[in-house]
Amino acid sequence: MKVCMIGGGYVGLVSAACFSDFGWSVTCVEKDTEKLAMLLDGQIPIFEPGLDDLVARNRAAGRIVFTGEMGPAVSEADLVFLAVGTPMRRGSGHADLTYVYAAVAELAPHLTGYTVITTKSTVPVGTSREIERRLRMLRPDGDFSVCSNPEFLREGSAIGDFTHPDRVIVGVGEDDARARDVMSRVYKPLALRNAPVIFTTRESAELAKYAANAFLAMKISFINEMADLCEAVGADVQQVATAIGSDRRIGDKFLHAGPGYGGSCFPKDVSALVRTAREARRPLSLVEQVQTVNEERKQAMVSKIVEAAGGEVRDRVIAVLGVTFKPNTDDMREAPSLTIVPRLMDKGASVRLHDPQGRRQAEPLFEGARWFDSAMEMIDGADILVLLTEWNEYRALDLKAVKGLMRGDRLVDLRNVFQPDDAMRAGFVYEGVGRGDAAA
Ligand code: UDX
Repeated sequence: MKVCMIGGGYVGLVSAACFSDFGWSVTCVEKDTEKLAMLLDGQIPIFEPGLDDLVARNRAAGRIVFTGEMGPAVSEADLVFLAVGTPMRRGSGHADLTYVYAAVAELAPHLTGYTVITTKSTVPVGTSREIERRLRMLRPDGDFSVCSNPEFLREGSAIGDFTHPDRVIVGVGEDDARARDVMSRVYKPLALRNAPVIFTTRESAELAKYAANAFLAMKISFINEMADLCEAVGADVQQVATAIGSDRRIGDKFLHAGPGYGGSCFPKDVSALVRTAREARRPLSLVEQVQTVNEERKQAMVSKIVEAAGGEVRDRVIAVLGVTFKPNTDDMREAPSLTIVPRLMDKGASVRLHDPQGRRQAEPLFEGARWFDSAMEMIDGADILVLLTEWNEYRALDLKAVKGLMRGDRLVDLRNVFQPDDAMRAGFVYEGVGRGDAAA
């Protein structure tokens, strides 16, 4: 089967590499000349564990090629995935479909033989139908189907998520048996491993992606609010999360309290869903509230740090462990650190930063902060230590040695990585998230 992946960004590149590993012949089209040059040179423009090896192996086997030219790739393909960006439009909060429709217009003249075109990027409900309408106008003679196949990949574990999905969702047009057959074939290697491939209408597939992300965002906001309550009443949010998460109706995932969700998906998708619902005159008050809770959360974390510091951070040295929106990625999009760090600096703190992978992306975003390549060097002489992103290497820190290097004794652990007892034994005044008992 010949697959054309339009877009060599995060979703496109991971999906292209995984499809090629299934044995399909994949051509990945990337328009950005800098990114394309890197890919052609064997470099991976993003940090994603395992991706470099996967691409290298399949390139060597001739199963994946990169190109800037859409024409030949589309005309040869049985299946074309649209994996271009759908960023949040400034002001409106809507998904910006400029790149999607530009790709559709560019690929139209090259459609040859029966071809399935499917969205992989997250697109608002109705986009597949609109793509079909545009293609029919551009190619009244064309033999094609348009599907919706949203991705559910998490950064940092995207390859595992692709190869071992909880489910694959494929939205196909009514009675479109040919499209269904092509989509079944491309996912057959997963179906053989018992991954459920669920066929729906295109609208349901499009909405399912937003609904899934909004639900997960809601779960995080729920536990974050519960964490605040735990602090007020002397309970431990981790124990509450385990207790409620053991109920299979609730589930134990995404109940980790922290500084608020970030990343390229949740904030953008929650916002786009809110817009869609308002336009459909069915506002989602619950989801709108999730947005507000998450925004307030980041500000509340600033207050938490200031309080832990004794009410004042002016001229205090704050050492921050981790700035990316989560571990195992260098992605800074909507990271809580983008709100928290500048506010601390506005309050007169001298902020030091360390991140195992994020420095290159993050350094230009934090003017006035001091960067360190070693966490221990950063900690040396600090008054307050704040853990913002739960990279594994921070879990292994020897808290006694850390405390020994510091000038102060405050540890604000916004991801509940450390054991309060260990931290206190090491001489820290410990402040976690939702750990009412530890704070008491
Ligand atoms: C998410 C979805 O999980 C994925 O299915 C979708 O396709 C893209 O968006 P991703 O953005 O890579 O993936 O990260 P994810 O691991 O879901 O975390 C998102 C944010 O929520 C991070 O900021 C993370 O720190 C936060 N989070 C997650 C919590 O604060 N608590 C949790 O329990 C889980």
